[in-house]
Amino acid sequence: MKAYQIEEFGLDGLRIADRPKPEPGPRQVLIRMQAWSLNYRDLLTAKGLYNPRLKMPRIPFSDGAGEVVAVGTEVTSVKPGDRVTSTFFEGWKSGAATDATARTALGAEREGVLAEYAALDEDGVIPMPAHLTYAEASTLPCAALTAWNALVAEGKINSGDTILTLGTGGVSIFALQFARMHGARVVITSSSDEKLAKARQLGAVHTINYKNTPDWGKKVREFAGGRGVDLVVEVGGGGTFNQSAAALRRGGTMSLIGVLASGGGANVLSILMNGIRVQGIFVGSGEMFAAMNRAVEANQMHPVIDRIFAFDKAREALEYMESARHFGKICIQI
Ligand SMILES: NC(=O)c1ccc[n+]([C@@H]2O[C@H](COP(=O)([O-])OP(=O)(O)OC[C@H]3O[C@@H](n4cnc5c(N)ncnc54)[C@H](OP(=O)(O)O)[C@@H]3O)[C@@H](O)[C@H]2O)c1
Repeated sequence: MKAYQIEEFGLDGLRIADRPKPEPGPRQVLIRMQAWSLNYRDLLTAKGLYNPRLKMPRIPFSDGAGEVVAVGTEVTSVKPGDRVTSTFFEGWKSGAATDATARTALGAEREGVLAEYAALDEDGVIPMPAHLTYAEASTLPCAALTAWNALVAEGKINSGDTILTLGTGGVSIFALQFARMHGARVVITSSSDEKLAKARQLGAVHTINYKNTPDWGKKVREFAGGRGVDLVVEVGGGGTFNQSAAALRRGGTMSLIGVLASGGGANVLSILMNGIRVQGIFVGSGEMFAAMNRAVEANQMHPVIDRIFAFDKAREALEYMESARHFGKICIQI
């Protein structure tokens, strides 16, 4: 089968190779992959910035969708013909994450799915919401589940809350969609007025260009009635932390997710004096994934895909992600 491999760091080091088609073990399922989605982590991994000790050659990507074509002798929950997605952590089924489950992430610690076939543990696949295409479903394992965990599983938002999400990448656009699904008001930032207009079409009530308004934390607080927002989906990291803290209400929650913006020096005083809860989010469990899929299906929600690349254009897809011209998700399809 054709499989992408990271053979050395740098986008030139990502190459298509011939590998034996995998045989499913007794508790594994064999998937004929149909579509994949990119996450910022895939870019960092390929460039050697995620895990500098990555075992190579390594098949990249955590997120994909396809059809089950064979199952091992002990598999009971899936059958050939089922349409499924991978899960980011193959071994994190439910409950709290452990050191062991945190080491089961696809596309870095374990072989990823950017290949014609993937053999995954029975517990590491989830049935697709029936109304989605393979490309749409391929966006769910990492970005969607992270947004769901940040807002719903850990974030516990309520109808009527106001939430802030940063930028218009994969995680943030899912956060916008899930927040609207739960009756929350959404404030969103972007470097592009054109992208902000698209975010308003998806239901954002207040939008701010963070390039034109570097002190956007105060502005967001004003939008939220001077009180501040209830929750921030914090994908920027060091470079946005203090503005996000300034945007939050007393006792609000910061779901800490990403590292898009360089910078540092957290204003610890503002965190403790305002009783802000800083909650680290690392994707989510299979149980959360199943709950999210029920909500996606019940609300007939469709992920926002910016662009779909052909299988032999994975490098171009990663370069497109690096350019940050996208709005929502970028996919690859057979
Ligand atoms: N903890 C976890 O489990 C987890 C899971 C998924 C992702 N992540 C992390 O979350 C981050 C987002 O991932 P993603 O896959 O959604 O990335 P992505 O789709 O590549 O998002 C890129 C977008 O982020 C926005 N952005 C970049 N720099 C920014 C800044 N300084 N301030 C505000 N927005 C900025 C830009 O939006 P505009 O063009 O609109 O300005 C850019 O287009 C990454 O750091 C990723 O590693 C973490």
